Amino acid sequence: MVTAAVGSGWLALTSPNTVDDITEVWSLPGSRATLVAMRDAGLVLPRNDPRQYDDLADEWWRPDGVFAMLHWLARARAALVPPATRPGALLVDLGCGAGLLAPHLAGKGYRHVGVDLTRSALAQAAAHGVTAVNGDATAVPLVDGCADVVAAGELLEHVPDWRAAVAEACRLLRPGGLLVLDTLNDTALARLVAVRIAERLPTVPRGIHDPGLFVDDRELVAECARHGVDLKVRGVRPGVPGLLRWLARQVRGAATPAGQAPRIVPTGSRAVLYQGHGRRDG
Ligand SMILES: C[S@@+](CC[C@H](N)C(=O)[O-])C[C@H]1O[C@@H](n2cnc3c(N)ncnc32)[C@H](O)[C@@H]1O
Repeated sequence: MVTAAVGSGWLALTSPNTVDDITEVWSLPGSRATLVAMRDAGLVLPRNDPRQYDDLADEWWRPDGVFAMLHWLARARAALVPPATRPGALLVDLGCGAGLLAPHLAGKGYRHVGVDLTRSALAQAAAHGVTAVNGDATAVPLVDGCADVVAAGELLEHVPDWRAAVAEACRLLRPGGLLVLDTLNDTALARLVAVRIAERLPTVPRGIHDPGLFVDDRELVAECARHGVDLKVRGVRPGVPGLLRWLARQVRGAATPAGQAPRIVPTGSRAVLYQGHGRRDG
């Protein structure tokens, strides 16, 4: 079953052949996230189980919560997106989560459509102005070439068949459309940093990543090229001064003042985290 918010205009974007059923789905279960539940989620569920995002539903929009770095990355990803060049331009956000990209797109002139497996996250994305589509990034119920921009932020490393998600991203792009993404590399260093070290920190959920799904940057570039997108990649990381100030505030239990979150900056190594952007040919 494919579901979407009634009145979202979603039908107009879809191929009728792919739609089996459409219903309203925005009944969000009550808040359940506690630190214990959050930590336990990864212990009782297999690694990378999407149900973890339901247990973490209250964390999405907490600037200093377990998804803090997603906020920093969303800002950096949005910086790669230029203002829309035509009225009605569409940005499809694959694996949009709770729509953290939305505030950073404000004023750029896109209609922001988000696709995600997790309904509790999508409900929050919808509340932030995202047209929400409950679906799989490897089989997106939208027509070929509908998107001026496709974003895939911190998604590919969660998709068992990341090549299928890349194929969908490229299929959705109109000729000249822009793909922007960030993901974790398939290296020993990324597994060390993002899993072994990060998951020992008190606020990082255990089991949120399956290191077996991390995405080799050269394979990703080659896969995008096969689908007509010339992807340029670069390593990124949090800027050190901002990160140290943020960690110090975390230790003191102090909230991050507006505008003081760490910045994501380019770095010479793609070995852990990297961004990609490229346009579809034609
Ligand atoms: C790490 S979060 C990133 C969310 C968002 N892009 C951001 O940066 O804030 C990964 C998201 O991908 C979603 N996801 C995982 N596998 C998916 C799939 N096959 N199709 C659609 N969404 C998926 C999860 O539900 C989750 O919301």
